[in-house]
Amino acid sequence: MMKAFVLRKETSELQLETLQIPVIGDNDVLIKMKSAALNRRDVWICKGKYAKIEYPAVLGSDGSGIVEKIGNNVSKEWLGQEVVIHPSLNWGENPSAQSKNYSILGMPTQGTLAEYCAVPAENIFPKPVHLSFDEAGAFPLAYLTAYRAVVRQANVLPGHKVLITGIGGGVALAAFDIARALGARVYATTSSDDKLLKFGLLGGNGGAIYTTDNWDSDVMMATNGFDVIIDSAGGPNFNKLTNITVPGGTIAVYGATVGAVPELNLHRIFWKQLKIIGSTMGNTDDFRDMLAFMNTHKLRPVIDSVFTFENTPNAFTRMAASEQFGKIVVRISE
Ligand SMILES: NC(=O)c1ccc[n+]([C@@H]2O[C@H](COP(=O)([O-])OP(=O)(O)OC[C@H]3O[C@@H](n4cnc5c(N)ncnc54)[C@H](OP(=O)(O)O)[C@@H]3O)[C@@H](O)[C@H]2O)c1
Repeated sequence: MMKAFVLRKETSELQLETLQIPVIGDNDVLIKMKSAALNRRDVWICKGKYAKIEYPAVLGSDGSGIVEKIGNNVSKEWLGQEVVIHPSLNWGENPSAQSKNYSILGMPTQGTLAEYCAVPAENIFPKPVHLSFDEAGAFPLAYLTAYRAVVRQANVLPGHKVLITGIGGGVALAAFDIARALGARVYATTSSDDKLLKFGLLGGNGGAIYTTDNWDSDVMMATNGFDVIIDSAGGPNFNKLTNITVPGGTIAVYGATVGAVPELNLHRIFWKQLKIIGSTMGNTDDFRDMLAFMNTHKLRPVIDSVFTFENTPNAFTRMAASEQFGKIVVRISE
């Protein structure tokens, strides 16, 4: 038996329950979890604001741990290995977009906020040796999403001026880490002076507070416009993004935290020949390339806080309040 946090429809709250340890198929592995991390989707699911929610759900898309059992078709070399989990399931054959069978680990499949997690062997990769289990459990979904948005979709190049919105977010900080390693000059928007200061201490080139009226002219003055913008907010500020992108520049969108864009300025988009491109998670090749990039540049996720397994509900409260700067980690076992 194992402990897991379960979300049930009746209560809409996470409860620590005792469940059967998952039974693995021939192509699967069973991982004894060391650390997991939260993503915004976990909070959206708890609030009932996510597509096709299936109950009961064990959430958690990020995790690191040790392979404890392998299926009949899996190489014995994996037994006892320290691994990280690639959270994309059933991406399909088309590298440009996921198939209709695509899902993300942690609803509908059982996720990482449990003492054990079963995944296909093709979804495990060796833990980077320069990272602790907490760091390794924190990066997979955020760095995968950021890598595809920054590298594949937006094609950030050395010397590019890049703006990342909402830098306190897990994916946003990963995008910063990757863009900077590529040799870009990286600016950010955020909600507080404190977060802007933290961004500067990490090596960010500058930025502005997105709740102020003139945040766009402030960053324009400093840069004269951006070659690439990486956005997950949407909302009314999106039109300003099209204003501060250089002609021919790119806006990569991977989320819509704020919501719809009122009166999208199409004239500006076509006249400036802007490229607006969507990005979601990534396939196995993206994950492999991201991991190699991470190992080469010794990238490290920013950890906001580490909660004990029993304190998982408090970790959710922190994320729901958007207080974090970086990833919120849950340490499942020492
Ligand atoms: N398409 C995909 O594959 C994919 C993958 C992961 C996430 N997402 C989506 O991307 C978004 C971020 O995810 P996450 O896991 O990184 O979440 P997160 O760690 O909770 O970060 C969310 C961030 O949004 C920022 N934000 C809030 N209001 C904003 C505004 N008006 N303008 C600019 N930024 C604002 C905040 O930044 P500050 O703290 O700096 O204020 C906050 O930290 C979510 O909407 C999520 O659903 C999509």
